[in-house]
Amino acid sequence: HGTSRVNERGHLEIGGVDVVDLAKEYGTPLYIYDVALIRTRARAFKEAFKKHGVKAQVAYASKAFSTVAMVQLVEEEGLSLDVVSGGELYTALKAGFPPERIHFHGNNKSRAELEMALEHRVGCIVVDNFYELQLLEQLSRERETVTDILLRVTPGIEAHTHDYILTGQEDSKFGFDLNNGQAEEALRQARRSGALSVLGIHCHIGSQIFETTGFVLAAQKIFQKIAYWRETYGFVPQVVNLGGGFGIRYTSEDDPLPASQYVENIIEEVKKQVAELGIAMPEIWIEPGRSLVGDAGTTLYSIGSRKEVPNVRHYVAVDGGMSDNIRPALYEAKYEAVLANRVLDANEEVVAIAGKCCESGDMLIWDLPLPKAEAGDYLAVFCTGAYGYSMANNYNRIPRPAVVFVENGEAQLVVKRETYEDLVRLDVPLRARVRK
Ligand code: LLP
Repeated sequence: HGTSRVNERGHLEIGGVDVVDLAKEYGTPLYIYDVALIRTRARAFKEAFKKHGVKAQVAYASKAFSTVAMVQLVEEEGLSLDVVSGGELYTALKAGFPPERIHFHGNNKSRAELEMALEHRVGCIVVDNFYELQLLEQLSRERETVTDILLRVTPGIEAHTHDYILTGQEDSKFGFDLNNGQAEEALRQARRSGALSVLGIHCHIGSQIFETTGFVLAAQKIFQKIAYWRETYGFVPQVVNLGGGFGIRYTSEDDPLPASQYVENIIEEVKKQVAELGIAMPEIWIEPGRSLVGDAGTTLYSIGSRKEVPNVRHYVAVDGGMSDNIRPALYEAKYEAVLANRVLDANEEVVAIAGKCCESGDMLIWDLPLPKAEAGDYLAVFCTGAYGYSMANNYNRIPRPAVVFVENGEAQLVVKRETYEDLVRLDVPLRARVRK
């Protein structure tokens, strides 16, 4: 997929660059991003809205993968940016991202984080709860400014892959409940305040979703309330944000829709609702994370030790694992992989790919058909672009890998490999003690 292909050396090539050369230059484990594919994904979302003449913002959910270079790429592609912490906001500002296109999320933003957002005049704050509503109102008043906000609501729909669950009330830590009067109370409070301006409503129903039904239902539920709020309070939203969650193909078992399909069904439903109400078409905002970067990322590992459990399985270990990709351990997430330096060799065995962390659950793939892999071979695991680097950790004091961007035959290091020195950088040694 993307610009990946097998070259004349039988090696995996991404963005016109041989990944074996990348391993030699930058070491392993290594995250490799196909920049052209990220651009393609970004443009597909934007085009889908443009085709229907609908005003929109496509905000990249930077929790999926946030680094200065990634934020710069997002800016180049003309997307907006969703941040969920002071750290993601700081990264965005460091990258020179226009603050007016930043949306600030989170269910427990601190006073310092909100002050930072106001200080830098981010475009919009997605208010999650009453505590935040009051705090933001107070901070905005102190600054004599009017802050644009969206109210995050939970519509009582939870969606994952092919399933969606409808509940009267959602048991979620996020947002104002749409069904029990919380959202209405939040709207009343916000509209009473001269320091807050409610641009509209936000919801996010889940992640790795393959169907459009959940989004359509969420839009219906939101507009049902909007009809009532309009009658009662004269509220008409300028923005309806339906969040992210568009699924990607990790393995051949996954069957996602193209970006345009999600967007089209969302637009269709919003247009229908708007026509029924006789109000102006709001801007539609979405927040894809995974679907912009997930399949553009590949992790390259070096293969090391092997262990055979007779009649059960062969373990083949790589030089990373749950420290750079926690998703298999955390969610039983499935991945596909190839032997990057011998892609065309026939598969001879089915192996289990183990990580190097001191934990039995540190497995990347349980049953992967591979040629007979030996120490020194390279394994490329696909679709690790979202929630890989961003959830990486230093368990076992393993330094986090480097990240390279490849495009048009060129590679660029965008995150350096962590060093042992980095690992102890924040450690403070015991004070010198006088020996008795
Ligand atoms: N907007 C909001 C409010 C969200 O909470 C999320 C994801 C997104 C957008 C982006 O969703 P996406 O398009 O990436 O599905 N660590 C998990 C995923 C957690 C997603 C949390 N929220 C994983 O590795 O699968």
